[in-house]
Amino acid sequence: MTTRYRVEYALKTHRRDQFIEWIKGLLAVPFVLYSQPTGVFADGDSISKVGEEAHRRYAEIMRDIELMIDDHIMHQNQDDPLLSKLRMLVPTAGPFFTRLPLEAAFKYQDRKRHISSRRYVAPSFNDVRLVLNSAQLMAVNNGALQLATFDGDVTLYDDGESLLTSNPVIPRILDLLKKNIKVGIVTAAGYTAAERYYERLHGLLDAIAGSTDLDTTQRQNLIIMGGEANYLFEFSASSRWLLEPVPRERWLTPEMSKWSEADITALLDLAEAALRDCIRTMRLPAEVIRKDRAVGIIPLSEARISRESLEETVLVVQRILELEQQRQKQHQRRTSVMGGGAASLTGRPVPFCAFNGGRDVFVDIGDKSWGVAVCQQWFGGIRPEGTLHVGDQFLSAGSNDFKARSVGTTAWIANPAETVELLDELADLMQKKLE
Ligand code: IMP
Ligand code: MG
Repeated sequence: MTTRYRVEYALKTHRRDQFIEWIKGLLAVPFVLYSQPTGVFADGDSISKVGEEAHRRYAEIMRDIELMIDDHIMHQNQDDPLLSKLRMLVPTAGPFFTRLPLEAAFKYQDRKRHISSRRYVAPSFNDVRLVLNSAQLMAVNNGALQLATFDGDVTLYDDGESLLTSNPVIPRILDLLKKNIKVGIVTAAGYTAAERYYERLHGLLDAIAGSTDLDTTQRQNLIIMGGEANYLFEFSASSRWLLEPVPRERWLTPEMSKWSEADITALLDLAEAALRDCIRTMRLPAEVIRKDRAVGIIPLSEARISRESLEETVLVVQRILELEQQRQKQHQRRTSVMGGGAASLTGRPVPFCAFNGGRDVFVDIGDKSWGVAVCQQWFGGIRPEGTLHVGDQFLSAGSNDFKARSVGTTAWIANPAETVELLDELADLMQKKLE
């Protein structure tokens, strides 16, 4: 996924996070006005003065955005979101479950990344993304974090790899459990058997089993939500693969239990036909994989499917499925007007998530908003402001982690090393709170 910011792609609106771009635009103004690109030969004193001035200006802007988010939250809580100024400026701005201390977060990241000292490179997309992450960590730390959920591929380990014993994220996750924070691995990888999850996650599972620090309850505070929102496993020290599948009737939310098997099969059939069409028309070196709750395409042996083809496939399948769901809704509305009765009005379309997984494309039943919601419910009804989902997919077509934004707070990382850094930052904040 490292090449995904290639200019050609970044220019497309569907590949932009408007909130981050907007903040970047605001920071570009003091950068243009105060940076001294011609002063390469200036003395150290005047260079550091310029840096201080840029720092002050950037921090002021972050403070102003922070206040605008407060105003947005006030209107959101009063149920009149249209009056939010932020919403006028960034129409895609979603709900905020916590306030965001952006000024403090900026100061923290500026100490780390020396953003204000740069004279040629303006505050970037990644600078802003990391400031937002820090602000979110500060906010959940204040509001007492209860549940941390993690995506798998690219967040905990490299794409397609497994969580090995040597992975530095393991002691950090154990530390969360030790602090009585619940942990969910919410991954799109969908398997019905515990053995497959053990294969992918054994480093973490073995570490939990072998830990002398964790008590039985803390161990039980790890769950795996697989296939986005389709398979739940709980930790079980006595099971062969250290995981025990939990039957659906014990964890489906009331809304999810209304999804009918017939609708699920029909949706996957349609998705499969659309994927086969894409393979044919774009001559993709790919094969179709059909599972009970997902359908996808994966590359044939050594082949690689180009990123453009993967994105095109996602957009095509998404469109076809959405059109079909709209057509069904219209049909239901018409039949109910003509006296079809209440039965036809209850049929809600089954949610799905079509996304580009980097090397493959999958269409899953449900999405990570449902997966994280199941974790919240499983642990007794944890609120969105007490939940943090960490993931890498917030921008690519389908972006499966983005969906979690509607049920909890989120942190957007670019690789597993950033997840480790993020957890260290969180541990520092928690330590400071205790001092
Ligand atoms: P995540 O990053 O942990 O959400 O995992 C996404 C990756 O899991 C995809 O890119 C696929 O390579 C892999 N995967 C395996 N099985 C499935 C499935 O049933 N649905 C979606 N992705 C799957
Ligand atoms: Mg991922």
